[in-house]
Amino acid sequence: MIQEKKFYVTTPIYYVNDIPHIGHAYTTIAADILARYNRLQGKDVFFLTGTDEHGQKVEKAAKEKGKTPQEHADAMVENFRELWGKLNISNDAFIRTTDTPHIKTVQGLMQFLWDKGEIEKRSYSGWYCTPDERFWTGKDLVEGKCPDCGRPVDQIHEENYFFLMSKYQDRLVRHIEDNPDFLLPETRRNEVLGFLRNNTLGDLCISRPKSRLAWGVPLPFDENFVTYVWFDALVNYFSATRYLAPEAGNAKLGDFWWPADHHLVGKDILTTHAVYWSTMLMALNLPLPGNIFAHGWWTVDGKKMSKSVGNVVDPNAMADQYGVDAFRYFLFREVPFGLDGDFSEDALVRRINTDLANDLGNLLSRFLSMDEKYFDGTIEALVSLSPGLREFAAQCGSANAAAHDRHNWSHLRFNSILDSVWEIVREANNYIARTEPWKLAKKDEGELKRVMFGLWNALRLTALSLYPFMPATSENIWRQIGLRALVEEVQQNRSGAGARIFEWNWIPAYAIKTAKGAQLFPRIEKAEKDEGKAEKKEQKKEMAKMTEPGTRELIGIEDFAKVELKVGKVISAERVEKSAKLIKLKVDTGEERQIVAGIGKSYDPEYLVGKKIIVVANLKPAKLMGIESQGMLLAATGEDGVCSILALDRDVDQGARIK
Ligand code: MSP
Repeated sequence: MIQEKKFYVTTPIYYVNDIPHIGHAYTTIAADILARYNRLQGKDVFFLTGTDEHGQKVEKAAKEKGKTPQEHADAMVENFRELWGKLNISNDAFIRTTDTPHIKTVQGLMQFLWDKGEIEKRSYSGWYCTPDERFWTGKDLVEGKCPDCGRPVDQIHEENYFFLMSKYQDRLVRHIEDNPDFLLPETRRNEVLGFLRNNTLGDLCISRPKSRLAWGVPLPFDENFVTYVWFDALVNYFSATRYLAPEAGNAKLGDFWWPADHHLVGKDILTTHAVYWSTMLMALNLPLPGNIFAHGWWTVDGKKMSKSVGNVVDPNAMADQYGVDAFRYFLFREVPFGLDGDFSEDALVRRINTDLANDLGNLLSRFLSMDEKYFDGTIEALVSLSPGLREFAAQCGSANAAAHDRHNWSHLRFNSILDSVWEIVREANNYIARTEPWKLAKKDEGELKRVMFGLWNALRLTALSLYPFMPATSENIWRQIGLRALVEEVQQNRSGAGARIFEWNWIPAYAIKTAKGAQLFPRIEKAEKDEGKAEKKEQKKEMAKMTEPGTRELIGIEDFAKVELKVGKVISAERVEKSAKLIKLKVDTGEERQIVAGIGKSYDPEYLVGKKIIVVANLKPAKLMGIESQGMLLAATGEDGVCSILALDRDVDQGARIK
């Protein structure tokens, strides 16, 4: 039974070998939006993400690095943890499939299925795709290759354990038919149904002989085998409720949280969730999740994202360059969740300049300037509405209702929700144009007060609706319009008269005093963006040249002599606003210069002051997040992503040339 009071949402657990890219960020931000929205609605929320750490690929990568698989996983998992910190992800727990309680749960469930006769040992021959870690039958193959990724497959003969999935085919079809929201979007639901109605479901190989793969979960009933990646991975959603979920009332933990309300996944892993996981749950006598939602894939400038093409979008870089909230907003405004979309920095900049800087940012700053000028930053809450204000209140009210529409939220229609929020913003801008407050200031103070109150309310509702998407921006708006703290305020106003906080007629119990802060979203000028882009491209090309085997060019001493390296002393250091990575330094290299360095995740600015560093002194100035950098400091980055600045072995005066 899905309970009304609790909300449990999951992301896929990501392969620990991957470096996080835009696809990982996309699902995780989507889950964050749902978690934040439901917390605001007063539900008990459990938001789970994590990493998938067993399997051949991890074993192989660890070996290549001379590490144990566990050491390798321990290092790689930090990439995800750090990114989620940066992107303001509010997950309640982070599961790793190497956690002992998870392993114990997997083994417990397997034993249960084995005892129940749901698992059988068979000899097997099939085709195995190592990168995808999946078996295929001969007729699945496309031109002899993996039907999913097109890569070569290996033929394998061995004994293995099989989960008897086929016997649940009819029950699964019925479940999908009877629960229209179980698989979303509808097009994907129809695909799965079509597949299940027209094909005979096979049984699922869930083991690997230990001789070929040691890095897995040992089968409790046969020590010569480990369990195969999907059985281990899918169980995470359930095992987490047994040891990672928040305490909730008196209910036994797991029984309170299971089943999940939403499993969010990419379209490529819908089958494993809709078919494998659902039938596993049926065999385990466990309830099925409320919904599995398959989102689309991002292409980049019209092309498939791939490491070899070198067009993989790094969410860290996007957040550093454009800000976390702008990046979060773009992903969910640009493309309906469920469809494929195309990512381009041009489109992102367009959204920032039009929706965020122009529509929203200007609305806030115009309102605050007027309120400051005419009423010294105060807002009088008005009960009597003039016809003009009544009309505006009705327009905002209906857009606001659409932004909170249950169906929109249960169907994850994020872009229509954002459309509705922008309708409030648009109406508010029109309201200013229509009422011309600067004219009212000269002739009708009563109406001017109403206009200010109306705009205040519109901005308040906008901040509330935007909170799940752009949490920091919403808090910022909330404070600038004279309120205390958004999340706490909502929590305190859940009952009685305060419960209307999501509607038009709500005012705080204290006097409102607005306070204009920094611009929400400065416009990004094209030249500035292109400059950054061209430079990045150049750098990438250069780096590629240096690292590609065979194409590495050697340089002569005269080339090296072109680089002017100098000793610099750090005079001051501060973080660049809205960037986790960038630090702005004043450095004395004989002359004073400003340097912007991406070392903010490894160093505190205070630590750097007084340090002697090595600076490339004759580099063309460049702009980073709009701030000029006159040179570059030298640092090395370890595999763990932590960097170390180059320093001298013995004290040398600043300005000294390094040769
Ligand atoms: N470990 C499995 C999931 C197990 S869940 C029990 C896995 N891991 S993954 O690291 O490969 O996950 C990748 C996720 O990112 C998938 O949901 C996938 O759909 C998504 N994306 C990968 N590339 C993507 C895009 N280009 N665009 C959007 N999402 C994409 O699969």
